[in-house]
Amino acid sequence: MIWYPYEQMKTMRQPIPIQDAKGVHLYTADGHDLIDSVSSWWSVIHGYHHPVLDAAITGQLQHFAHVMLGGLTHEPVERLSEKLREWLPGDLNYCFYSDSGSVAVEVALKMALQYFTNQGSSRRGILALKHAYHGDTFKAMEVGDDADYHFAFGAGDTGKKDVWHIPAEIPALEAAFAAHGEYLTCFIVEPLLQGAGGMRMYDVSFLRRARELCDQYGVLLIFDEVATGFGRTGNRFVADLVLPDILVLGKALTGGYIGHAVTVANEKVYQGFYSDDPTHALMHGPTFMGNALACSTALASIRLFEEGRYLDRIARIEAISRREMADLSDDRIKEIRIMGGCVCVEVKDAAVLHGYQQYAYERGVFSRPFLRHLYAMVPYVITEEELVRVLTVMMDWFRR
Ligand SMILES: Cc1ncc(COP(=O)(O)O)c(C=O)c1O
Repeated sequence: MIWYPYEQMKTMRQPIPIQDAKGVHLYTADGHDLIDSVSSWWSVIHGYHHPVLDAAITGQLQHFAHVMLGGLTHEPVERLSEKLREWLPGDLNYCFYSDSGSVAVEVALKMALQYFTNQGSSRRGILALKHAYHGDTFKAMEVGDDADYHFAFGAGDTGKKDVWHIPAEIPALEAAFAAHGEYLTCFIVEPLLQGAGGMRMYDVSFLRRARELCDQYGVLLIFDEVATGFGRTGNRFVADLVLPDILVLGKALTGGYIGHAVTVANEKVYQGFYSDDPTHALMHGPTFMGNALACSTALASIRLFEEGRYLDRIARIEAISRREMADLSDDRIKEIRIMGGCVCVEVKDAAVLHGYQQYAYERGVFSRPFLRHLYAMVPYVITEEELVRVLTVMMDWFRR
């Protein structure tokens, strides 16, 4: 029996059985054709059953699916690491792989904390954002601030030693550095767009100021781009605008085909571990890190992203979304937010969205609103007609 995610199993709706999927379409066992407006938790940027990604996997399968990176290496992982070194901005050159975004966040935090202990420093503090979501493992929950997901363990600052949460506002940032700057190891953020915490959007000037303060106080800046990476904000990576010391990528890394993630460190962080002292090594090693099928798929996915003019596609998605949503206004709506390939309608009361998922299903759209947030994060290969259909269903919900 399957134990489903984020669900009270006793009362949950029956999940929709999917038999086939192609492009932006999910085909159900009972004959429904649904446009996936969620991209399988924001990861399937090229759509389903893509011939190039399928070929990358089957090609690698002719050799092997997986060998461990402990004492072994292989061409797909070496090629992907070289590609990321060349493709990512600045000196983000050192790739540590893991099997999920949460684990990659754990690795980033471990890197930041050990970077200081390796120098004999007593710094232990971590600065993070209010409403942050960085995954469901324990340290990721600790730097998160999302009671809606982590209520069972107590979210917020209660009991979180050495972790502080601030709003994405420059005065709060400056005050936090003035108070704790000398003790901080890192500042971790979902840059520009906080996803699971409520599709909250903020300005790049906050990140620029964060970079300055991190430099001034010798604090490492971590960008968790598990959700924002690969174009979701309209930028290839937010790291193209402001350079972090550690970058975390997941979800769309493999075009949503295979769970894989990478924590990329810059030269300074890497050199903090590089020594003759074995106790300065990074002691982490997920069994499936650098999985050959995942690396081959990631290489093909990056090639599609580069050759398919994806940033133009995402700009088009944003323009269509702005055009279509321009006329939507309703007393029950608190705010409509659009950035790149993300559209969010935040309502004042979560009850307003009760029944929406079924409503959308009956109109050929798969949607998964959460709390007060009705959103679309579509695959970038969506056509204008398909996108307009997704947005129209969202708007019609308020116009009934
Ligand atoms: C910003 C961010 N970080 C980390 C994660 C965790 O990734 P995973 O679900 O692959 O563990 C997520 C997942 O939604 C995320 O949005």
